[in-house]
Amino acid sequence: MTKAATPSRHSGIVAAVRGVRAAWRQSLQLRVVSTTLLFSVMVVGLLGALLLARVSAGVVDAKERASVTEGEAGHAEAQGILDAADTGATTPSATQLVDAVATSLAGRAGNSGLYEVLLLSTGPRTGAEAPERGTNLVAESSVPNDLRQQVVAERRIAWTYTELRYLDGRVVPGLAVGSTLSVPGVGLYELYQLFPLTQEQATLDLVRRVLGVIALLLIVGLVALAWLVTRQVVTPVRQAAQTADRLSSGHLQERMTVRGEDDLARLARSFNAMAAGLQEQIRRLESLSRFQQRFVSDVSHELRTPLTTIRMAADVLYEDRDTFDAATSRTAELLQTQLDRFEALLTDLLEISRFDAGAVALDVEPIDLRLLCRRAIEAAQPLADKRSTEIVFEEPESPCVAEADPRRVERIVRNLLVNAIEHGQSRPVTISMAASEHAAAIVVRDHGVGLRPGDASLVFNRFWRADPSRARTLGGTGLGLAISLEDAHLHGGWLEAWGVAGDGSQFRLTLPRIAGTELTSSPVPLEPADGSTRVPLPTRTAPRPSSVPAEPSAQDDAAHAGVAEPVGESRA
Ligand SMILES: Nc1ncnc2c1ncn2[C@@H]1O[C@H](COP(=O)(O)OP(=O)(O)O)[C@@H](O)[C@H]1O
Ligand SMILES: [Mg+2]
Repeated sequence: MTKAATPSRHSGIVAAVRGVRAAWRQSLQLRVVSTTLLFSVMVVGLLGALLLARVSAGVVDAKERASVTEGEAGHAEAQGILDAADTGATTPSATQLVDAVATSLAGRAGNSGLYEVLLLSTGPRTGAEAPERGTNLVAESSVPNDLRQQVVAERRIAWTYTELRYLDGRVVPGLAVGSTLSVPGVGLYELYQLFPLTQEQATLDLVRRVLGVIALLLIVGLVALAWLVTRQVVTPVRQAAQTADRLSSGHLQERMTVRGEDDLARLARSFNAMAAGLQEQIRRLESLSRFQQRFVSDVSHELRTPLTTIRMAADVLYEDRDTFDAATSRTAELLQTQLDRFEALLTDLLEISRFDAGAVALDVEPIDLRLLCRRAIEAAQPLADKRSTEIVFEEPESPCVAEADPRRVERIVRNLLVNAIEHGQSRPVTISMAASEHAAAIVVRDHGVGLRPGDASLVFNRFWRADPSRARTLGGTGLGLAISLEDAHLHGGWLEAWGVAGDGSQFRLTLPRIAGTELTSSPVPLEPADGSTRVPLPTRTAPRPSSVPAEPSAQDDAAHAGVAEPVGESRA
């Protein structure tokens, strides 16, 4: 059980550390507040310690001086009493003398207990002969042995800090001033005046408490100040960031609130001005592009009516071409083929303007891609026969089902096949497919002219051709791959090209098997297994420089020239 708990607790700690680190990195306020806290604790702590040291030194010094002075005075008085007794006519007993000294000193100390008195005999104790006295039950152990030895050895006033112990168990810090007295007829006595430091201790405790409270208030105040100040700065900055986020996600009417006249207000105002400028610019561009879209679609529509009339006239001429002379007959044929292209172009233009206007919808249903490919091959077969190109379908045995719009996907595959046949130099065109758990891919491979370095990223551009000098006689309308790419994107799919000049190209269509899910990988590589010996080409999304020269070489031109026969029929 502990074994199972340890990793989870460990990961909990790791997560917590990560969270704190992220918060530290992301929050300016947290950083400012915690550094303020750290520094104020350091500075206030240092100042407090210094102050406390000075105050205690002052208090204790004064007490020390007063105590020693009082000790000396007490000693002088005691010795005076003893000396007077010595010279008197009748010699009092030792007990009387010691009592007299103790009483007199206790009188000096007063009722407030300025100090306690301890009279200890130095020599060997012999009962009543050497009585010892102490006031207020102060114990002998209050005097440290070191001090006793020093006093006895040096016979002068000495003092030290100690703890005053009372016989009733009380212990208070104090100062012991010791001296020696010679009692006539008895011998050497030690006199100790024990000054309790209770008062000073209380004063210092109070100072410490006050300092602590002040330090705490100071730190809390500083941190609160830092928090408030950063909040004043950070809040508008955060608001600006939020507004910028919303702006960039398309909410162009989003603005910051402007409060006051300060720098932050200026920031908000400039931000809003920028947003307004952007919004205006985008609105202009939008209306321009809407206008252009409309224009394209209107033109295409408008051209349809006259085209129908021309078509009818051309059909009549074409039917009767046998009755014309050779040149006129040829003209009638040319007219017919060019009208075919014209019609195809108009259809494609209308289709692409629908994409631009966002007026396209997907009709998704689960389809077996094998059937779809078969239909596309059937449609491309007449063109393949005309070019004596063999279409090889590497059909998988089991169904390959994906949720897609059959009409659009079939159009993509047909486009790829027609392109492969047109640029394939009559070499076999292979179509294959593969599926993984989440994605299905259809791959069309040809062994024709191929693509030059860098072209793989360009083939999907509208009206782009590998060789613009070649009249628009070969291939379709120039919009085929652009429409196919839009169709693929509509499915959330990928359409990518690979090619090597002279070694053919490969186009890969990857579709998510469940509509609406995001693609992360394709079940087949973009580059064909037999193409890896050549220099790989950049993919559509990430063109990268290649060692192959970008300029078409003579060999490339020759390769292109190989299919440069004028061909009119492009409808497949
Ligand atoms: N399989 C291919 N092999 C070589 N070049 C190709 C191939 N497919 C497309 N291309 C190049 O991409 C260009 C654009 O293709 P596409 O959009 O289908 O327009 P179109 O076929 O009407 O020219 C073609 O003109 C051709 O230069
Ligand atoms: Mg084409």
